[in-house]
Amino acid sequence: MFVETYETYNAVYDKILKGKVVVVIDTLRATSVITTALVNGAKEVIPVADIEDAINMSGHLERDTILLGGERNAVKIEGFDLSNSPLEYSEDVVKGKTIIITTTNGTRALKKASSSDDVVVGCLLNVTSVADYIHRENKDVVIICAGTEGKFSIDDIITAGAILDRLEKLSPYESDDLSKASYFLYKSFQDNILNIMKYGYHLNRIEKLGFHEDVEFCTTIDKFSVVPKYINGVVRLV
Ligand code: MLT
Repeated sequence: MFVETYETYNAVYDKILKGKVVVVIDTLRATSVITTALVNGAKEVIPVADIEDAINMSGHLERDTILLGGERNAVKIEGFDLSNSPLEYSEDVVKGKTIIITTTNGTRALKKASSSDDVVVGCLLNVTSVADYIHRENKDVVIICAGTEGKFSIDDIITAGAILDRLEKLSPYESDDLSKASYFLYKSFQDNILNIMKYGYHLNRIEKLGFHEDVEFCTTIDKFSVVPKYINGVVRLV
C-alpha cells in the first residue's frame, strides 16, 4: 500500500486518483459538517462548488425535503438555511433531509476527487473509522486536504497524520514525504493537537468570527464511528 498526501486539491489530477481509495479532508469545517449531518440522520449530502449550482439544484427538488447549507468567507450564505457550523446540523433539523452544501474549499475538494469510485470523507471526528476502511480496502491511498484558499492548512494535515497513525497499527504502508510529515507532526502533538492547530490561519479566522464551539467540536477525535462515502456526486453513510 502506498499513501500520497496532497496539501490542497489544486495539485491533484484525475489520473493519480484512478483505482485508489481517496480520503478528502476539510477538518475546519466542511467534512466535519457533512459527517455530523449524516450521523444526525440526514438522508444524503450533495456537495456543490458554487452558490448558483446549489440554488439551481434546490429548484428541482421538493423544497421541504432539502436544506441549503454552507459558507462564503466562513459565514452563512444569504438565503441559505444553514451555515457551515456542525452545531447547526442537529438531528431535529437534518433528519431525513437532503442537504445541498457549498463551501469555499471542502466541497470543491470533494468534486475534484470524483474521478475515483472510492472516495470517503475524513475529519478528526472519524479518523479511526477511516483508517479501518483504508485497511479493509487494501488499495493505494490518496489523501486530499482541502486546504484554505489554495494553501496548506495545519488542521487538515494533523487529521491526515492522525489517520496514518491509526493505519500504521493495521497495515504496513509506504508513503510520500507529506504523508510522513503529517504523521510526525501529529505524533509530536498527539497529546494536545490544539497546541499546534492554534497557529493555523483558518482556525484563527473562525475563532475571531466567534465560532470557538465549532473549533472545539471539530477537533474532537473519534466522536463518530462512521465512514461517509461520496458516490455519484452524493455523500451517504454506507
Ligand atoms: C471550506 O470549505 O473552505 C471550509 O469548510 C470553510 C469554513 O468552514 O469556514
